[in-house]
Amino acid sequence: MLPAMASMTVGPTTGVVITGGASGIGEASAIALAEVGRPIAIWDLDGDKAEGVARSLKERFDVATVAVQIDLTGSDAIEAALEVTHGELPSIGALVHAAGVVQVAPVDDLTEQSWSAVLDVNLRAHAFVVQSLLPDLCRNAGSAVVGIASIDAMLGHGAIPAYCASKAGLLGLTRSLADHLAPHGVRVNAVCPGYVETPMLELALSVPGLRQNLERQTLLGRLARPEEVGRVVRFLLSDEASYVTATELVVDGGVVSSQR
Ligand SMILES: NC(=O)c1ccc[n+]([C@@H]2O[C@H](COP(=O)([O-])OP(=O)(O)OC[C@H]3O[C@@H](n4cnc5c(N)ncnc54)[C@H](O)[C@@H]3O)[C@@H](O)[C@H]2O)c1
Repeated sequence: MLPAMASMTVGPTTGVVITGGASGIGEASAIALAEVGRPIAIWDLDGDKAEGVARSLKERFDVATVAVQIDLTGSDAIEAALEVTHGELPSIGALVHAAGVVQVAPVDDLTEQSWSAVLDVNLRAHAFVVQSLLPDLCRNAGSAVVGIASIDAMLGHGAIPAYCASKAGLLGLTRSLADHLAPHGVRVNAVCPGYVETPMLELALSVPGLRQNLERQTLLGRLARPEEVGRVVRFLLSDEASYVTATELVVDGGVVSSQR
């Protein structure tokens, strides 16, 4: 490891499971964490992209990696994913739940199917992945969990009520998990990104004028780069954040603040 990198390494060297790690914020978190030497498991619906990211991390940072294709809409695949992960990463001490989906369906268009499609990935999966990782997290000192929520948890948006509900739910889940796991030495937090240039936002950004509209909502006058969220995730999983639990860190360039 380069000396500059070594000085950035604070605390646990255990493996990190990153759901949604094949793209956007999950991938950026994987890069930030591999950069400080943490072994990485990429769990993603897109198996090919997950393989590509895992391979690239191994080549760039010389860390152990594993890619697992998994559909987090169901809980039955989690145990199998964990078994494969343990094969490459015997010691797991962190989770980043970055897998997420959004569907435009205002309340008049909502169906039970569209509601579940969003809630199952964004919220339900977080609870059950944490459940499956409990023995690992509790065994390893300095373990921590980060769920990627959103400023939509606080602001809400008429076009995407299921998404906003899933993200607000994630904040409640975060505090509940933090309460339960604190006696076991496990910290649990959420990150609330604002508008980040990832494939998820790509479609919206193709609407004329939307980019400028979103940029105007920020104090910094621009959208976020995924790595600007990834570095915050890395901080929350490090010992630098040893007294931070049961809270959310807003990474939005000032959107929420400017709306107060
Ligand atoms: N991009 C933004 O502006 C923004 C803002 C706030 C919060 N977020 C949140 O950040 C997280 C990451 O989003 P992103 O912007 O990087 O999007 P992205 O689309 O680039 O990445 C999401 C990843 O989740 C994976 N995924 C989706 N459904 C899955 C499933 N059923 N099982 C397993 N994996 C699945 C996708 O394959 C993809 O790799 C999401 O939770 C999103 O809600 C994004």
